[in-house]
Amino acid sequence: AIEQRIEALLAQMTLAEKVGQLHLTGRGDSFKPEWVAEGRTGVLMNFTQPREVRAVQAQLARSRLRIPLLFGLDAINGFATYFPQPLGQAATFNARLMEVSAYWAAREARAVGVNWTFAPMVDITRDARWGRVMEGAGEDVHLGVISAAARVAGYHRGGLATSAKHFIGYGEAEAGRDYNSVWIPLSKLWDIHIPPFRAAIEAGAFTVMTSLSAMNGIPSSADRAMMTDTLKVKLGLRGFIVSDFESIKEMLAHGVGADGPEVVRKAMLAGVDVDMMAGLYDRHLADEVRAGRVPQSAVDDAVRRVLRVKFHMGLFEAEPDHPAMAVAQLALPEARAAALEVAREAIILLKNDQILPLGRQTRSVAVIGGLATHQEDWQYSDNAGLPRIRPATLPAELTRFLAPNVRVTAERGLATHCSLAPGNTAAALRAAHAADVVVVMLGEDCEQYGEGTSRAHLELPAPQKALLDELIATRKPVIVIMHTARPFVLTGFVDRVKAVLQTFHLGTEGRTALAEVMTGRVNPSGKLPMTFPRATGQVPIYYDQLPTGRPRLTNARYESGYLDEKIEPLFPFGFGLTYSRFTLDRLALDATSLPLTGTIAGTVRLANGAGPAGQEVVQVYVRQRVGSRSRPVRQLKFFEKVAVAAGGEASVAFRIPVQALGFHDDQGRYSVEPGLYDVFVGTDSRASLTATVTVTAP
Ligand code: IFM
Repeated sequence: AIEQRIEALLAQMTLAEKVGQLHLTGRGDSFKPEWVAEGRTGVLMNFTQPREVRAVQAQLARSRLRIPLLFGLDAINGFATYFPQPLGQAATFNARLMEVSAYWAAREARAVGVNWTFAPMVDITRDARWGRVMEGAGEDVHLGVISAAARVAGYHRGGLATSAKHFIGYGEAEAGRDYNSVWIPLSKLWDIHIPPFRAAIEAGAFTVMTSLSAMNGIPSSADRAMMTDTLKVKLGLRGFIVSDFESIKEMLAHGVGADGPEVVRKAMLAGVDVDMMAGLYDRHLADEVRAGRVPQSAVDDAVRRVLRVKFHMGLFEAEPDHPAMAVAQLALPEARAAALEVAREAIILLKNDQILPLGRQTRSVAVIGGLATHQEDWQYSDNAGLPRIRPATLPAELTRFLAPNVRVTAERGLATHCSLAPGNTAAALRAAHAADVVVVMLGEDCEQYGEGTSRAHLELPAPQKALLDELIATRKPVIVIMHTARPFVLTGFVDRVKAVLQTFHLGTEGRTALAEVMTGRVNPSGKLPMTFPRATGQVPIYYDQLPTGRPRLTNARYESGYLDEKIEPLFPFGFGLTYSRFTLDRLALDATSLPLTGTIAGTVRLANGAGPAGQEVVQVYVRQRVGSRSRPVRQLKFFEKVAVAAGGEASVAFRIPVQALGFHDDQGRYSVEPGLYDVFVGTDSRASLTATVTVTAP
C-alpha cells in the first residue's frame, strides 16, 4: 500500500516539487522558511530550537502537497544527556548498552523535533590519527557489525530514522588525514568495510550517507558502482542516499566535473538522491532534466526513495511534532541513569599496580587536570534555553565516594579543556606533594575530536607530558586517566605510573562512573575496541592482519619489523583489566569436523578466582590455516560479556556458523573454503586457548 501511495503522490508532483524533495538545506545555509511553503525543500538539517521547528512546520501547512519534512541532525552520543562516544560504547562490548545509548540520543533529539539522524557512523577505523575514530566502533568487523545493528535499532526505538555513514571507506583516509584519498581493493572493501553497512541496512537503516573522500580515484558522490550497483542493488537499500555536506560541490575540487550542472549530473546518475547543503540540485537539476541530460526516471526514483522513508516513518499519518511540549523530556533521570550505566562499562583499566581501587590507607588524593576539575559542557548543537546538565567534577565525585576523612584537593594544572584559562602547574605540583595519591586526567578536549581533527602525533602534547613528568618526579603514586577520542601512544609513561584508565569521552555521567570505578564501587569491564600502538609510526595497526612470509621471530634483519621499535602493540585489541582475577580453561568443542553448513559450537569455563564480582568478555577468534588466498592471522567471530560472582565460575557457550568464516573475491563473491580452522579463546586478541576444526568439502 505504501508503494501505491508513493506513486499516487508522485503523479501529482511538479518537477520543481520533486527537486525540492531532494534538496537538503537548513541552518548554516541561505535557507528561507518560505522554501518549505513553496515545496522547494523537503529535507532539513540542524534545527534544534523548538521555535524554529514550529516556524518551519507552519510554512509546511501552507504548501501545496504538505509532504512532511525530515529534520536531520548529528545526534551522535546524545542531545541533552551525553553518553560515551560511540568508540566508548563499543568498549563496553555490550550490545544492549550500544542500543540504549542510541535510544536516548534519539528520544531527546526527537523531543525537539528532529526525526532523522546522521548516525550511526559505521566506518571501520584502523588509523588513530584520523579524528573521527571516536564516532565508530573501532577496528574490528565483528564488533562493528554488532554495534551497527544495535545502534540502528536504538535510534529507531527512540523515534529517529538513521543514516549509516560514510559509504564508503572514509575510515581509510590515507595517512589518517581527514578527507584524504582512500585506496581499497574490492575484496578488502567487501570483507572489512561493507559488512557494518549491510548490518545497518538489515537492521532497518533507511538512508546512507556518502563520504567526503575519493576511493580508488572516484569521489564517493560520483561513484555509481558503489552507490547504485553496490548499495542499492546488491545491499538492497530501499531508502535514499544523501550526499555528505557539500560533497557534490566538492566534486569540482576533486576534478571530476567542470561546473555545477556537470557535477549534478554525475551525482544524480551515480545514484545520490539528496544533495546536502551544496544547493546544486536546487539550482541545476530541473534544467538538466528539461535538457534531457538527466532522465526524469532518475529523479523519480530518488523522490520515491525519499517519500518511502517518510511513509515508513509514519510521518504522513502523524501530526507534526510539537517540540516545545516535549522539551520536558530532556535530561530525564532515566536518561542520566542509562548514561551512567554505559559510562561504567566503557572505562578500560589498562594498568593497575596494586593501587586501584583506592584503599583505606589513602588519606589524601590530589586530582590534577582541567578535564577532571571542571564541569564539562557536552552540548554541540544550539541548545540555548533547553534543559542542560552541569556534570559533576571528578574531585566532587571522589569526595562523595571516599571516606569522610579523606582529603581531596583539585588543581587544574593545565587547561586541558576548551575555553578554560591556563592552569597553574606550580599549584598542581604543591597539591601533588601534599597528597598520598595523585590522579591526573589528560588527553583531548571537546575541540579535538570529530571532523577535521587529524593528528600526526599520537603522543601526549608537550605541555601535558611535561606536567605528567613533573608529577611522576614527586615520587607519589600517580594514576593517569586518559580522556581521549582515539588511541594515544602511552609508551614513555605507562611504566612510570601506578595505574592507567582509558576513556573515550564518557559523557555527562562520566566523572561519576570514574569515581565509582576508582573507589571500587564498580569493577571495570571495558575492553579496547582499537589496538594501542607503541609509536605513531606503527599506525595503522590492527590485530587481524595477514601473515607475512617473514614474520618477526628472531629480530634478524630480513624479518618484518622496525629498526627502532617492536612490532607488537602496547595494548592489544580486546584488552582490559578488571579488579577480579579471571581465568579461562576447559575449552571443549561439540564437534571438530563440520560441513560448510555446520556451526562451531563449544564451551569454555570462566572462573573468577580472586577479587570482587565482575564481568569479563570472552572472545573467540578463528583462523583459516590454508586457503586460496592468505587469510588473517585471526578474526573475532564471537564475544560475550559474562558476569561472575566473587569466587564463582560460569560455563560460557559459543556458536559460530561456518558460513561466517569466508571471504570475498574482487567481484564481491563470498565463499567459505573447506580445510583446517584454528579456534582461539581468550579475554583479548592474544587469546591462547586453542582448538582445531576441520570443515569438510560437500
Ligand atoms: O553527518 C556529518 C558528516 O558525518 C560529516 N559532514 C557533516 C555531516 C552533517 O553534519
